Amino acid sequence: MKQNDVVLRTENLRAHYILDVPGGQKVVRAVDGVDMQIRKNEIYGIAGESGCGKTTLMKTLYAAIARPLRLVEGGVYYTKDGKEFDVYALNKRELRKLRWQYMAYVPQGAMSIFNPVKKIKETYKDFLSSHLSGRTADEMFETAKEHIDKLGLPVSILEAYPHQLSGGMRQRVAIALAALGRPSVIFADEPTTALDVVVQRGVVQLLKDIQEQLHNTIIMVTHDMGIHANVTDRLAIMYAGRIIEEADTVEIFKNPLHPYTQFLINSLPQFGDTGERVSAPGQPPSLADVPQGCAFHPRCPMAMPICREQRPEFVTRGEHRVACWLAAEGGKADAAHS
Ligand SMILES: Nc1ncnc2c1ncn2[C@@H]1O[C@H](COP(=O)(O)OP(=O)(O)O)[C@@H](O)[C@H]1O
Ligand SMILES: [Mg+2]
Repeated sequence: MKQNDVVLRTENLRAHYILDVPGGQKVVRAVDGVDMQIRKNEIYGIAGESGCGKTTLMKTLYAAIARPLRLVEGGVYYTKDGKEFDVYALNKRELRKLRWQYMAYVPQGAMSIFNPVKKIKETYKDFLSSHLSGRTADEMFETAKEHIDKLGLPVSILEAYPHQLSGGMRQRVAIALAALGRPSVIFADEPTTALDVVVQRGVVQLLKDIQEQLHNTIIMVTHDMGIHANVTDRLAIMYAGRIIEEADTVEIFKNPLHPYTQFLINSLPQFGDTGERVSAPGQPPSLADVPQGCAFHPRCPMAMPICREQRPEFVTRGEHRVACWLAAEGGKADAAHS
């Protein structure tokens, strides 16, 4: 990979919720040592069960950290106009300037953020006037119409109040608004969750259309592996605050190396499927009390003694990387278990 393909990278990123509890502090290690390099012109997916730290990772990448969440270690480095900068070294004013025009965030449950007493066109106007000054109301309305139309949404929604739109349409408008400033990086947290399957398709298509029009980077979180298979170019699997596997999405589905990834894929319903799907036994650990060694070992059918003792580092095979002792042992363990 060429270095200048990278739009965002992290180094040993750690962000913890530090909570005051009777008699001391409780530390929730929601992001606990993440190294990633996200490229220009790709849709990068982050998968994993609920409670693995996906939302916290997105907030940390977007520099939207607020107490009790704290950046404990590492940094988030963006590349803009050929120069790299640490987003945590910026002051508030500089950060505000970046937001929306360089990076935009569509939070989980974005469809419910609209002001109920404002028509969609008013929300567009607020967005446009706070970021692009010196435009008349008519010009802003034209810009909003063009933008909506280009993304394949009906222009009539501008005259609607939020409650007059379906949840799926509101979600699409929230995503469209995020794209209005033509940002280089868009974060979308669970954009399809809580929508029915038919409506999900519209949301997925909109994300793809935006990426194609802007040639930018979209980072999308969802626990739904079916959506990842349809949308993302590369995919990271997150477990207990860390990325445990990363590769091209096609490669992950073809050749999942981590037993956790295999569980996530196997639990997807398959065409012609009549039997029960196996999902991983048990639950992800509390991030206030992560198991020693590999955090997945208590749920892993392949666990070996070393998995209980020592955390596996990444093993890299081309662009596919995985943190699992099975891969580190070069398949020795496979033989032992067969
Ligand atoms: N404001 C908060 N205070 C304390 N703990 C939190 C807070 N928000 C999230 N957490 C904890 O951080 C962990 C990761 O949560 P989250 O990032 O939302 O995961 P995901 O998006 O993968 O479901 C969970 O254990 C959750 O309980
Ligand atoms: Mg979440």
